[in-house]
Amino acid sequence: MNLQEARVVIVGGSSGIGLATARAAADQGADVVIVSSRQGSIDRALEQLDGNITGRTLDVHDRRAVTTFFAELGPCDHLAYTAGEPLTLTPLAGMDIDKAREFFQVRFFGALTVVSAAAATIRTGGSVTLTSGSARTRPGAGWSLGASISGAVTSLTKALAVELAPLRVNCVEPGIIRSPLWSGMSLDEQQQMFDQQAEAVPLGRVGEVDDVARAFLYAMTQTFSSGASIPVDGGALLA
Ligand SMILES: NC(=O)c1ccc[n+]([C@@H]2O[C@H](COP(=O)([O-])OP(=O)(O)OC[C@H]3O[C@@H](n4cnc5c(N)ncnc54)[C@H](OP(=O)(O)O)[C@@H]3O)[C@@H](O)[C@H]2O)c1
Repeated sequence: MNLQEARVVIVGGSSGIGLATARAAADQGADVVIVSSRQGSIDRALEQLDGNITGRTLDVHDRRAVTTFFAELGPCDHLAYTAGEPLTLTPLAGMDIDKAREFFQVRFFGALTVVSAAAATIRTGGSVTLTSGSARTRPGAGWSLGASISGAVTSLTKALAVELAPLRVNCVEPGIIRSPLWSGMSLDEQQQMFDQQAEAVPLGRVGEVDDVARAFLYAMTQTFSSGASIPVDGGALLA
């Protein structure tokens, strides 16, 4: 299967992993729609992209807007969900539990809302790809929320793969990837985390968004995997 003229919708497509996936899908001839909550991010992303790409704003917190959005958008072939707000590590000591609940809103409930609105619009042979994370199986200290959300998304992927079959539903599990997700940390803190990660993983470097985009394209174009989680973590699970 190739992406020539396939319609690919990427929720979270204005930055980081979603933006890299949009670029890679457009390079393969797809008609790409990038979706995120802020018009400014969409505009900045479109300036960096070539090919058949359009941008639309949608805040996944707004369930009614999500339903209307997919009803109006019409049929598509592949849906990728990469939305998430900037992340900082959250040690248990002093954790604000209300903020902790909030962490699930975009990454988990946003994914659930979007798939529930979009599933019926995906053409036969199409796919859904969600975003989990390798913290699910190898969390470090301070990763209780990241690990829990990732575990929830991976389980959601499996359940949806059963319920929505023969639609293929998979997820990608990135390790630490250099992207704007970490903009809540200072540049020095980010670099320290990236250096530690590079030393810790067998492949000896931190991940780049293009590494993860390749996994999203694989999930769209392969034809016989569903309910699968694809690790893109430099071998972190073996370290
Ligand atoms: N980078 C990593 O190391 C890493 C590792 C494991 C898992 N992940 C997961 O991968 C996903 C993507 O990460 P990334 O690194 O690509 O982050 P990113 O560069 O910050 O991109 C996040 C995207 O989500 C969109 N977004 C945020 N809130 C939204 C909302 N309410 N409605 C719609 N769109 C929204 C953002 O655009 P707007 O601001 O315009 O809404 C942006 O396009 C996240 O869920 C993250 O947790 C990342």
